Amino acid sequence: MSRRWTLDDIPWHRFDAAQVDPAVLAMVKAAAMVEANAADYVDYLHGVFQDDEALKAAITLWGEEEAQHGAALGRWAELADPSFSFSDSLARFRESFRIPEGASGSVRGSRTGELIARCVVECGTSSFYSAIRDSADEPVLKAICHRIAGDEFRHYKLFRQQYRRYSERQPLSALKRLTVAAGRVFEAEDEELALAWYCSNQPNEPFDLRRHSAAYGIKALQVYRFEHIARALRMVFKVCDFNARGPAAAWLARLAWRGLRLRGWWLHRYAA
Ligand SMILES: [Fe+2]
Ligand SMILES: [Fe+2]
Repeated sequence: MSRRWTLDDIPWHRFDAAQVDPAVLAMVKAAAMVEANAADYVDYLHGVFQDDEALKAAITLWGEEEAQHGAALGRWAELADPSFSFSDSLARFRESFRIPEGASGSVRGSRTGELIARCVVECGTSSFYSAIRDSADEPVLKAICHRIAGDEFRHYKLFRQQYRRYSERQPLSALKRLTVAAGRVFEAEDEELALAWYCSNQPNEPFDLRRHSAAYGIKALQVYRFEHIARALRMVFKVCDFNARGPAAAWLARLAWRGLRLRGWWLHRYAA
């Protein structure tokens, strides 16, 4: 299997500088860093699934697709801001951020738990790029995010399929599934995102975890609409084998939406 699209499929000639939103541009620069750094996660997952050759091959392709997301977003950011250098920013980010190396087991406690956590991440990225696609006016960015959101959804399905396979041998209780999924949702990725923001947007000032994390969060929270959050939550419910169409999922989606709006309000106050 090979990648479904390449950078040559993007309609770069349709780029319209007048439609670039500076807030979205800043966020895209940071997202490009995290996506382009996928190789570290490939190494980690190869360690976790070291004797599963078929899954390792799928993870290799997954990593190539994630890196391509970074390359597409980075190239768009260079078009939108000719003073931005994707390669220089990425080199700064790689110097500053590394995931823990040498793990041979999952930090989630089991392979099944690791696959649930991967699904949660792909739910998040799928809704994030859907939200940018739906809110952006610039046609090239819309086209890129449409393709990336499709990839993220397929990644979710890949890890969900693998989760089902592994859970036949290593089933997790409902409480454990909930704990792993909720833990991943609330896990502080602050440092990775704050550093990505800092390295790609404000590298000439001292790094401040809280300030740069807030700067990223303010921009990111602006692009979401309720349906993006509700859909992501239904996907998380589905992988946990909970009823994604039931009242609990609907109630939690409304709660999550209120929580995100509150967080946005708080971040604005903090930044002010
Ligand atoms: Fe991605
Ligand atoms: Fe992905």
